[in-house]
Amino acid sequence: MVYIELLNAIEERRSVHNFQPREIDSAILKEIFYYGSYAPSHYMKEPWNVKVYQCKGKNRFVENILASYRRLGMIPDDDGPKALRVAESMRSFLLQIPHHVVIHYEREEDAIRNEEEYSAVCAFIQNAQLAAWEYGVGMLWTVTPYMHDPIFLREIGLDAEKDKIVAVMQVGYPERIPQDKGRTAITEKLQFINN
Ligand SMILES: Cc1cc2nc3c(=O)[nH]c(=O)nc-3n(C[C@H](O)[C@H](O)[C@H](O)COP(=O)(O)O)c2cc1C
Repeated sequence: MVYIELLNAIEERRSVHNFQPREIDSAILKEIFYYGSYAPSHYMKEPWNVKVYQCKGKNRFVENILASYRRLGMIPDDDGPKALRVAESMRSFLLQIPHHVVIHYEREEDAIRNEEEYSAVCAFIQNAQLAAWEYGVGMLWTVTPYMHDPIFLREIGLDAEKDKIVAVMQVGYPERIPQDKGRTAITEKLQFINN
């Protein structure tokens, strides 16, 4: 039995950079992350946690990002015209993204267990991206410097000692679907070892 729809979703899903200016219903987002949660996880730990910033909830989140960028030197740390201009441009870019979704888990002290948890969260993310595609919803998986800023984590209610952010997904209905970049022939990366 070949599930053509599943295979099409895997092949046709694209990372979306431009979104329509409208929110996705929370019930649909719930469905998407429900399917995400069918990802495998060792010991059934289901380590993923999800925070969805949307509507007015984006305002403080975006200010936290800008404050982090200032600490990290990506925005000049003063009130000069350049700093204000850069901050305003980043603010309006970030605010027009309909949903920012922070995906995080609690670190394990043991390195192997930690790797298992991290891997399971990545599987969760890809499941959610594929489910989203079925609902006509686009996502962009981002890994950004502020995810490593302990003050940023504290400001969004996490503890950098305990919690790790794996990704911040930008989510919305696609305004434009990027072209398929294709993939390297898998035969270049695939070895069968028979004896
Ligand atoms: C761990 C991870 C981090 C990524 N971070 C970014 C990012 O910060 N910015 C971005 O534009 N795309 C990011 N991407 C998306 C990739 O650029 C994208 O998946 C790749 O170009 C292939 O395009 P496709 O997803 O449309 O097939 C990330 C993807 C992964 C898996």
